[in-house]
Amino acid sequence: MENISLIGFMGSGKTTVGKLLAGRLGWRFTDTDALIESAAGNSVPEIFAGEGEAAFREREAAAVREACRGVCQVVATGGGAVLRAENVAVFRESSFVIWLTARPDVVVARTERAAQNRPLLARRDGDLLTHVLKMLGERGPIYQAAAHLIVDTSDRTPDAVAAEIQRKWEKWTQETPEAG
Ligand code: S3P
Repeated sequence: MENISLIGFMGSGKTTVGKLLAGRLGWRFTDTDALIESAAGNSVPEIFAGEGEAAFREREAAAVREACRGVCQVVATGGGAVLRAENVAVFRESSFVIWLTARPDVVVARTERAAQNRPLLARRDGDLLTHVLKMLGERGPIYQAAAHLIVDTSDRTPDAVAAEIQRKWEKWTQETPEAG
């Protein structure tokens, strides 16, 4: 396990916290959505619109394999990357896996202004909070089963979250010498 992978719902802070954490550790930062976009030459919403979700998930599985091949990296993942068991296996084999959580109202506050950048939030029947609650209910157990550690990000600065993860990672590598 030579990476840290951040999993969790849209708006949980994976990219923001991941960049800060990588800076603290002196590690590389990798973002699976960014890998997908550069391989496709298209944005995530354009891939969803042009190729559909199934094709996006294929691209995502390839990006997960590529991202987790390195060492000393913080890997920020797309919120749905855990939906494929093969991705979860790659994360757990290569990384200390951290589930970043946020209260549903916090997720809404962080995502509502740019919900159109997230096709699975843009395409909904009712209001954003109801939609987020439904998706969180479906995905919560999947994130939980995939994670080695859970860190809540609600009402906290990204740097405070990054500092907590750094402390826990250092503690964990001391207690589990074969891990680091
Ligand atoms: C998705 C989350 C997005 C992106 C895509 C699908 C999901 O990433 O991969 O829109 O299924 O939750 P973020 O979690 O970085 O927003």
